[in-house]
Amino acid sequence: MVANAQAAAPVNYTDETVRGFALAAVLWGVVGMLVGVLIAAQLAFPDLTYGIPWLSYGRLRPLHTNAVIFAFGGCALFATSYHVAQRTCQVPLFLPWLAKFTFWGWQAVIVLAAITLPLGYTQGKEYAELEWPIDVLIAIVWVAYAIVFFGTIGTRRVRHIYVANWFFGAFIIAVALLHIVNSAVVPVSFWKSYSAYAGVQDAMVQWWYGHNAVGFFLTAGFLGMMYYYIPKQAERPVYSYRLSIVHFWALIFTYMWAGPHHLHYTALPDWAQSIGMLFSLVLLAPSWGGMINGVMTLSGAWHKLRDDPILKFLIVALSFYGMSTFEGPMMSIKTVNALSHYTDWTIGHVHSGALGWVGFISMGSLYYLIPRMFGQTKMFSTRAIELHFWIATLGIVLYIAAMWIAGVMQGLMWRALNADGTLVYTFVESVKATWPFYVVRLIGGLLYLGGMLVMVWNVVMTVRSGRAVPAAIPRFAHA
Ligand code: HEM
Ligand code: HEM
Repeated sequence: MVANAQAAAPVNYTDETVRGFALAAVLWGVVGMLVGVLIAAQLAFPDLTYGIPWLSYGRLRPLHTNAVIFAFGGCALFATSYHVAQRTCQVPLFLPWLAKFTFWGWQAVIVLAAITLPLGYTQGKEYAELEWPIDVLIAIVWVAYAIVFFGTIGTRRVRHIYVANWFFGAFIIAVALLHIVNSAVVPVSFWKSYSAYAGVQDAMVQWWYGHNAVGFFLTAGFLGMMYYYIPKQAERPVYSYRLSIVHFWALIFTYMWAGPHHLHYTALPDWAQSIGMLFSLVLLAPSWGGMINGVMTLSGAWHKLRDDPILKFLIVALSFYGMSTFEGPMMSIKTVNALSHYTDWTIGHVHSGALGWVGFISMGSLYYLIPRMFGQTKMFSTRAIELHFWIATLGIVLYIAAMWIAGVMQGLMWRALNADGTLVYTFVESVKATWPFYVVRLIGGLLYLGGMLVMVWNVVMTVRSGRAVPAAIPRFAHA
């Protein structure tokens, strides 16, 4: 009797922060993609913002990467990890006031990035451009995030720790480690610092960070989303729970060693480059194991794909994940990298992962999450989700196909030699040949951004016609 009463006792989920992060993800998604479209346009039409330093390509490019990865992706990860941890642990968030602090702290980081990057303040390290005062703020917010997340896990009412939380947890710990080690600098003024590392060590630390930013920020956290929202939306259990555990340990172990593939043919010792290549090839196995686990979760529910656009987002995300984690190991092979490095092939690879995997898994998860956070069971318009799905998919295809063709063409043009050993093409000829592909990429980007604007409309309508869910939800309702 008592046990039953306890089982039925409501859990006061603390969703205010989840709501904030979910809406922020949509907003920053639009901003980051808009800047992406702008820099894509600048590459096709270089005089577009001529003369205005803070709108120059060199300053807007890091603004784009920071906005899409850390603002859009980051807010989506905060929202979903806070949502999933509460539901799977059957407890409210640990220290809700600290969770609120993570929200405002993270928004402050984003706004500071949006101001300082166009002004030209940068450490010059890719994906770690922000100057040291902002880095300190990131570290503080991240520690608070770890306390809230692991505190929630630690106070759980169920014995088991669901696999999605393992992925979110690894993402939180690894990002803390990466950020703190790679951000070690000697400040010389408030907005200027120099790396604590020198020469090739600096490059190695940077790409250990850079690659694991891909592995943990752009992959592990989003796999956490996959393991919760795909089973939820498909109303099926995870295909193989055992595989999910193998997937977890194999993936996090392997990712850590693959960084040197970013430094092929550099001053980095050859053996280190080969280790990077080897681990990248091995990485194909756990990546595909995870993808197959996600896709097979639809076993017996394939028919749902026909008219459920949210599932379409989630499953197509996995297809792009599979594609980019096949392509990545191939590009890590030294002889292939000799062709692909410095070309737009890399940009195609990045965006099949970024637009297809990161973007789609986030959008699918947010379409599941947002209505439930505002007292609805589904989004205001399912047809608008369908429309979003199709224009975004078309956008991705145009973007990545254009970059692949352009990339391989550039690589081949740069290495083409005449019989006497001179170059067949000047560099400028390869730039001219690339131009039409930059225009196609711009069109692809505009379509992808257009899809995001449809999402904004749908979210606004959903929030307006809904209301914030009451704090108490019956236990095991797993909203
Ligand atoms: C409307 C959508 C988008 C457009 C038009 C766009 C466009 C661009 C452009 C033009 C570049 C510079 C390419 C170059 O240097 O040659 C770039 C770089 C990059 N973008 Fe995007 N982007 C979009 C969305 C995204 C999203 C959603 C993400 C991540 C979730 C992302 C992640 C990146 C990254 C990581 C780079 C740096 C790549 C590298 O250094 O190799 N982008 N993007
Ligand atoms: C098995 C998994 C993967 C492997 C082994 C891998 C491997 C590689 C390789 C070899 C490069 C080119 C390095 C260069 O020539 O400079 C690269 C670049 C990149 N990849 Fe992947 N990749 C994988 C998955 C992904 C996924 C899923 C994403 C995105 C979500 C991603 C994002 C990136 C980014 C952002 C870069 C550009 C880094 C830069 O130069 O700025 N990768 N990857």
